[in-house]
Amino acid sequence: MRILLLGNTGQLGWELERSLAPLGELTACDYPAIDLADVKSLRQMIRDCQPDLLINAAAYTAVDRAEIEPELANAINAIAPAVMAEEGRLRGASFIHFSTDYVFNGSKGAPYLESDLPDPLSVYGRTKLVGEQAVQEVGGAYLILRTSWVYSLRRDSFVNKVLGWARTQSKIKLVTDQVSGPTWARMLAEVTSQLIVSVGQESADWFFQHHGLYHLAGSGYCSRFEWGQQVLQLDPHREEQVVHELLPGLTAEFPTPARRPLFSALNCDRFYQTFHLQLPDWKFALKLAMEKV
Ligand SMILES: NC(=O)c1ccc[n+]([C@@H]2O[C@H](COP(=O)([O-])OP(=O)(O)OC[C@H]3O[C@@H](n4cnc5c(N)ncnc54)[C@H](OP(=O)(O)O)[C@@H]3O)[C@@H](O)[C@H]2O)c1
Repeated sequence: MRILLLGNTGQLGWELERSLAPLGELTACDYPAIDLADVKSLRQMIRDCQPDLLINAAAYTAVDRAEIEPELANAINAIAPAVMAEEGRLRGASFIHFSTDYVFNGSKGAPYLESDLPDPLSVYGRTKLVGEQAVQEVGGAYLILRTSWVYSLRRDSFVNKVLGWARTQSKIKLVTDQVSGPTWARMLAEVTSQLIVSVGQESADWFFQHHGLYHLAGSGYCSRFEWGQQVLQLDPHREEQVVHELLPGLTAEFPTPARRPLFSALNCDRFYQTFHLQLPDWKFALKLAMEKV
């Protein structure tokens, strides 16, 4: 099986490259070798590679910066996935694309289902939603996996930020009113790869039969405050911490260019019921991730 992975230096893409490597003939690339904003070279690269399976882990993920670069965010998050879906469909390839909990406005008050109506609050969320819709419109053998609060210890993530603040500040304030499911990039990559393994050689037919939108994130949910609290407790080098107080705050105290949903946890039952795979509880995954610090 020929696999083309886009975005292999990102949090998720880096983990996917490791877990996909044994599954076939893998080509992995990222910016600047491929610029998703350049439709012509994106099409050409897919045609040259002739993948049986195309996986898109690349995205414009700078949520605040997207507010001032909406066209670039749209090119990467909305137009490029449509091109991938088209090219995949043309050659009968399967396509896995990732999306976000930020397509929701956060006012439901309970974990979101795939059938809930999206209503993004930011340019990032809107462009990701348009990308989902474009992939669905093209159709074919695709899976869209919506996930939430992705972190890795390798790149600049919330977990690394908290660890950094803990070493430089005596007080840290984290919001209690933003709630979602922390998702360790490695677990997300491994479950995605397990899914591909379980499909075997019949992948395009199977993907076609099961095509659609699924939620896939760390099980359970918490506030950024609770998440940070766990990070501080699980820090294997606590002796380096200078922080004395973790204070609860509210989103309104930290104005940002982009609005974020307050409660955007995802209900992942559909994925579990369909594929019999799930991500572990967020606290358990964080414990494993922190052992690697
Ligand atoms: N991070 C989260 O909290 C979160 C939450 C929910 C859903 N998601 C979704 O999960 C997926 C993976 O996210 P992630 O956190 O792994 O993202 P990430 O770490 O920001 O990685 C994204 C990758 O895309 C690449 N990229 C950006 N612009 C590009 C362009 N013009 N051409 C080619 N590549 C480009 C980036 O390259 P550079 O590093 O060079 O920019 C980076 O390697 C995305 O679909 C994202 O929307 C993420």
